[in-house]
Amino acid sequence: MQKETVTVKSSKTVALNTTELILQNEYLSQSANPGQFIHVYIDGFMLRRPISIADVNKKEQTITILFKQSGKGTEKIASYQPGNMIDVLGPCGNGFPLESTDDKILLIGGGIGVPPLYYFGKKMSETGKEIISILGFQSKKDLFYEQEFQQLGTTYIVTNDGTYGDKGFVTSLFNKLENYDSYYACGPIPMLKAVKKELPNKVGYLSIEERMGCGIGACFACVIPTTDQTGYKKICKDGPVFSAQEVLL
Ligand code: FES
Repeated sequence: MQKETVTVKSSKTVALNTTELILQNEYLSQSANPGQFIHVYIDGFMLRRPISIADVNKKEQTITILFKQSGKGTEKIASYQPGNMIDVLGPCGNGFPLESTDDKILLIGGGIGVPPLYYFGKKMSETGKEIISILGFQSKKDLFYEQEFQQLGTTYIVTNDGTYGDKGFVTSLFNKLENYDSYYACGPIPMLKAVKKELPNKVGYLSIEERMGCGIGACFACVIPTTDQTGYKKICKDGPVFSAQEVLL
């Protein structure tokens, strides 16, 4: 992880208040792993914003980020146009494990937790794994990347208000699934909690989205209780991906 300057290559609105930025940077594009994030500096704001990496194109030397505008800081990032330069730290944290020998994996994404699963799914698909995805959104207007995930494998969409796909939560679809070997989930804590509770006997990994301070393990703004001897871990440095057995939600 290091401090880098990225150049905005393109900016696109992909859903309600949801922006996709493609950023040019050689170092990040060659070193980022699925599940890692960049910590974005915004002019006029004290705290950087952690934003997960949704895709990487090594040949083009770009990384893609996708985020929801949830305040003045993210609104400002969404206003950046091609050619603008941004100061970021990255790639940060520990991403999804890439060495799994499982044949069939389940991706479970909720809202803005969906993006990092895309790059992970793509990587896993390249190694010949079968991918099933469940993507949950509040409403049809929040939906993005459906076709991208469909290219990886069977994809189920669920919306809380039933305006697209099935009505309910990601867990509502678990009884529709055939067998699979392990799961990888990213989304809000209540969703991760419900997933962990519903799938107690499955090998699983959770990527935890949390507001951060330093983003590099130097403060304690992002600690989460764990089952190991230390009793806690830092999401920004030890995570954001943890084994489902390891963390107490
Ligand atoms: Fe500072 Fe994680 S944000 S330790």
